[in-house]
Amino acid sequence: MSTAPRVIVALDFPDAISAFGLASRLDPAKCALKVGKELFTAADAGLVRELVGRGFRVFLDLKFHDIPNTAAQACAAATRLGVWMLNVHASGGSAMMAAARDAVARAAAETGAPKPLLIAVTVLTSLAARDLAEIGIRATPEEQVLRLARLAQAQGLDGVVCSAQEAAALKRALGPAFKLVTPGIRPAGADTQDQARVMTPAQAIAAGADYLVIGRPITAAPDPLAALDAINASIASGAHP
Ligand code: C5P
Repeated sequence: MSTAPRVIVALDFPDAISAFGLASRLDPAKCALKVGKELFTAADAGLVRELVGRGFRVFLDLKFHDIPNTAAQACAAATRLGVWMLNVHASGGSAMMAAARDAVARAAAETGAPKPLLIAVTVLTSLAARDLAEIGIRATPEEQVLRLARLAQAQGLDGVVCSAQEAAALKRALGPAFKLVTPGIRPAGADTQDQARVMTPAQAIAAGADYLVIGRPITAAPDPLAALDAINASIASGAHP
């Protein structure tokens, strides 16, 4: 592929052996990889270093949320691992996001590595209006997503994780440079599993998504590289199958 991969394959595995089993069948020129809480907790930071060493762009999806100093130090440690993208909860507030932003920039400058993309999580898609009300938030999920995305942008973060359904409105509100990272993607005809509202890869890109987080349609496919190739081809052709 001539451009940077748009697909981030979610390595939702319980251990490093399974994760490497899949990674060794994928091509770093064709996808990035997402390491989340399950795999990172079961394995260790060495797994991330190894994937980076194999040439993969790694999205470390640990959703840091803590007092500013602790969140910032965690972001600096992630940056030193050589990750390409990492994230924090925007609900940690402006001071936490600013500290994270500065720590990432400092750690990248120290290591000489490119600065990773620092992305915010807004409202978890598992939370409905009544769940927000229960924790004292009167806004609707849509209002709260926009509020937190604006806060993240104001603090110089690079983008947000959002549902593909929200992508068009967020792109309009926040502009083309603010990255949108969207899960809930299914190729046409694929099993939706536990995802309630899905978009195809081409639909999500057309709606304004910059990067697509895709797990089981690739990880559970008999031939993961062929599944990834088909998805990349559907994006390249802008197909709306
Ligand atoms: O297998 P599937 O494509 O559904 O995996 C989607 C990935 O994106 C998983 O790692 C899941 O945790 C993550 N994710 C999501 N919905 C969100 C946030 C993250 O599916 N709102």
